[in-house]
Amino acid sequence: MELTVNSVSCSVQSPPLTSLLTVLREELDITSPKAGCESGGCGACTVLVDGQPRRSCLTALCTLDGSEVVTVEGLGTPEDLSRVQQAFIHHYAAQCGFCTDGLIVAATAYVGGGGSADTGDIGEALAGHYCRCTGYVKILEAVAAVARGDTFDTASTASSANNTYVTIAGAES
Ligand code: FES
Ligand code: FES
Repeated sequence: MELTVNSVSCSVQSPPLTSLLTVLREELDITSPKAGCESGGCGACTVLVDGQPRRSCLTALCTLDGSEVVTVEGLGTPEDLSRVQQAFIHHYAAQCGFCTDGLIVAATAYVGGGGSADTGDIGEALAGHYCRCTGYVKILEAVAAVARGDTFDTASTASSANNTYVTIAGAES
């Protein structure tokens, strides 16, 4: 099976019914998509498939030949974070980080599709993403800020929230 993952062409050897989540984590060693519920209910495994957010735990490899997959590692690097990654840092929108990579991927699709700064619209777009830590308020603020076109100075926030910075950069497993 041939996939493009974070702009790299991959020839994947896992059996056809293997979930994309398992392929990413165990064959390709890309660990930002998290194995939460593994039944489509929590959003922690969300990645972009051909630009659309998908639950990778429910996506069989055999449906993906020729597809383009993007995880949070493909959105930005620690030296060059995407605007959504910057916003999550700036607005302190992550705590333990387990839900964060899936939320950032989904939020990227939302704002990339022209989503508004209306928190009701954002909440609807991110419905089904469960966060046990933040209470969602900071997450909504971060996404709204990106949708408004705010700019972010993460120099001070990154240095004072180093664990958050590492998670958002996709470096935590
Ligand atoms: S692990 Fe896929 S939705 Fe929860
Ligand atoms: S930051 Fe901990 S689950 Fe969301």
